[in-house]
Amino acid sequence: MYSDKVMEHFNNPRNVGQIEDANAVGEVGNAVCGDIIKLYLKIKDDDVIEDIKFKTFGCGAAIATSSMVTELVKGKKINEALQISKNTVAEALDGLPPAKMHCSNLATDALKDAINNYHGSSKSKGDK
Ligand code: FES
Ligand code: FES
Repeated sequence: MYSDKVMEHFNNPRNVGQIEDANAVGEVGNAVCGDIIKLYLKIKDDDVIEDIKFKTFGCGAAIATSSMVTELVKGKKINEALQISKNTVAEALDGLPPAKMHCSNLATDALKDAINNYHGSSKSKGDK
């Protein structure tokens, strides 16, 4: 059902954890399945995402897509990172089963949420 790449990222996820001095944090929950992802970003003044880590409470596809998003985003500028769609993530993982496409929304939505919080800088913009 899953590609080798998905299994590989699930078994050995990259950039798991938390960044203590993160300056952009995003959190998204999927209303249907209840899975949750939290993303921590360290963004430099030149808008480059220097570091990124994630914590995902969710299915294998959610973990694999979170891991892939952190790899795709690290070292990129904010505006490049925002171009990453769930399809980009799924393609980078050699595909996801159709029923699991929503799982890659989780990571890309959390990325957008984190970047929104960064632009808002005060981080207290309320909730979505
Ligand atoms: Fe089953 Fe996410 S809904 S693990
Ligand atoms: Fe819910 Fe994968 S099943 S994120």
